[in-house]
Amino acid sequence: MAEKKTFYITTPIYYPSGNPHIGHCYSTLACDAIARMKRMQGYDVMFSTGTDEHGQKIEKKAQEMGITPKAYVDEIVANFKKLWATLGIKYDRFVRTTDDYHIKTVQNMFEKLYNDGYIYKGAYTGKYCTPCESFWTESQLVDGKCPDCGREVTEASEEAYFFKLSEFGPRLKELLLDPEKNFLEPKSRVNEMINNFIEPGLQDLCVSRTSVKWGIPVTFDEGHYVYVWMDALTNYISLLGFMNDTYDDYEKYWPADMHVMAKEIVRFHSLIWPAFLMALGEPLPKKVYGHGWITFGEGGGKMSKSKGNVVDPFVLCERYGVDALRYHLLREMVFGSDCPYSNEQMFARINSDLANDLGNLVSRTVAMAIKYFDGTLPVEKDFNDSDNDLLEQLDALPDYVSDTFETMRFSDGLAKIFSVIARANKYIDENEPWKLAKDETAKPRLAAVLYNLLDAIRRVAILLEPVMPHTSPKIYEQIGADASNTTWESTKVRHGLAADVTVKKGEVLFPRIDIEKEIDELNKLFPAEEEKGKDLEPLKPLTKFDNFAALDLRAVKVLSCEKVEKSDKLLKFKVDDGFGERQVLSGIAKYYKPEELVGKTLAMIVNLEPRKMMGLESNGMILSVKYGDGYRVVEFDDSVLPGSDIS
Ligand code: MSP
Repeated sequence: MAEKKTFYITTPIYYPSGNPHIGHCYSTLACDAIARMKRMQGYDVMFSTGTDEHGQKIEKKAQEMGITPKAYVDEIVANFKKLWATLGIKYDRFVRTTDDYHIKTVQNMFEKLYNDGYIYKGAYTGKYCTPCESFWTESQLVDGKCPDCGREVTEASEEAYFFKLSEFGPRLKELLLDPEKNFLEPKSRVNEMINNFIEPGLQDLCVSRTSVKWGIPVTFDEGHYVYVWMDALTNYISLLGFMNDTYDDYEKYWPADMHVMAKEIVRFHSLIWPAFLMALGEPLPKKVYGHGWITFGEGGGKMSKSKGNVVDPFVLCERYGVDALRYHLLREMVFGSDCPYSNEQMFARINSDLANDLGNLVSRTVAMAIKYFDGTLPVEKDFNDSDNDLLEQLDALPDYVSDTFETMRFSDGLAKIFSVIARANKYIDENEPWKLAKDETAKPRLAAVLYNLLDAIRRVAILLEPVMPHTSPKIYEQIGADASNTTWESTKVRHGLAADVTVKKGEVLFPRIDIEKEIDELNKLFPAEEEKGKDLEPLKPLTKFDNFAALDLRAVKVLSCEKVEKSDKLLKFKVDDGFGERQVLSGIAKYYKPEELVGKTLAMIVNLEPRKMMGLESNGMILSVKYGDGYRVVEFDDSVLPGSDIS
């Protein structure tokens, strides 16, 4: 069998100096979508991401908290991994610059470059703050003073190693201007690199420090630690096993097909990284893509929070669904430009594109197949020339989408898919299936119309899978498509569904959002700093300790939960209170599906006198906390035993 073609794509490795935010999601989502598409196209894909864990900032944060830098980053790295799992990011390798194999590669590479004369010893000069033991560059100073403590800084220097970046100007310029390679996208950045950095003359780059000790030790000179960018950029080859024995994929995947990042680190990837590789005599990556920033708030800053503009990706995924967020970010961002983030815009997109256009197309078509043919289409069909426009538009999609996605023009690719979805909706109106259904002799035509629609849905759902990997399988199920044949190639085939396909009614794919209400709710849940506490109940007067002590508060485990008939508020629970089972009612039906609560361990007052509601007895009260306009139950993790005393 022929070897599969390989495809290697990378995200930047992120600084775990703070928890991941939605800004970090874009590069990772873009890479994930491309990697998924390439897998569907039959490539052997390596998709890498990771964390860049060394350096002064992390060293200082850990010091402030009184823990080791490694302990500090471990926790944040776990949050990055959790976010990627939540977003459905299917990476193949996650590199941490504190991993042994990475350290080995960096040390070996440093030694080689030194032995080959590309690294030499010199002195690093900068502004030094003695109490903070930190060097700063002129541009980092605030009013000429230390940005951390505000004290005076002095000119100082320390011994350091330098990489001879200055020697690589002409070769880098040639690389950037090579019309065959198109090494750096978008083109506008090429001029920026040449005019701002190469033409004025590249400076040699400081690659080791003695004052920053949270880094990889230089093997042959004690007290020197490899400085950030040489350490970070090397991840792209260390994770393949270059100069280490842990992995053995370098020959297979290098050079990378795409390095993806935002604009602020394009310089490091399009000048410094190729120069390192040139010095090593290794092949260069094929492409560097520098996208714009997702900006927040009125000032358009890279990251700030304004009222009601919740940007916590975990919250957004939980409330609106992972695929809606994935779709929105990739649809909204135009490659090369900055893109302001707004929840309002996301809701508008969910309503128009996902609920109205895609969701409706699927639900209407499936409903008609059920209504007119009991769910299974007859084999006899009457296709005609009026079908051609829709079919031709579908035929043109796969190559266009593939081309746009792999050049980071997701917005164009997705817009085109949705224009064909709109075409399919129009095809329903043109063919008026409800009229055909009234005429017995038109059954074969009706079957053809519904079949064309179902097959159109199949083709667009497959093309959307890289962006909406959780939604497409739900669609396959509803339209009776073979979920084991969802290759990119299969979208080029007309009429790929079984001739007697059977559909199945499914859940609403994207519920519509009442935008005003939702924004209101978000404002309550996540108020701006100055509004926090505005809606809180006033504090009650003091009470005796005995009043509290008279209440018996316990952890209870939910054994079963169901809605109380004829009540839109009440849920009926059976709980284990550690001593036995009891029935309790709680007015939280609007905020939970009963099945979500089964198995949870909750907080409850167990010695309230029994009360009757809707004719049912409630023995106690489940504790909930106000959350926006609703409530959340107070819950414990699984390790808490039912009956445990709460005090
Ligand atoms: N550790 C370096 C990268 C080393 S790569 C060899 C670094 N880390 S970072 O945590 O600051 O991440 C920067 C990257 O995060 C950006 O290049 C981009 O990929 C992503 N983003 C972070 N905030 C972003 C936005 N607000 N908008 C879009 N992407 C952003 O730099």
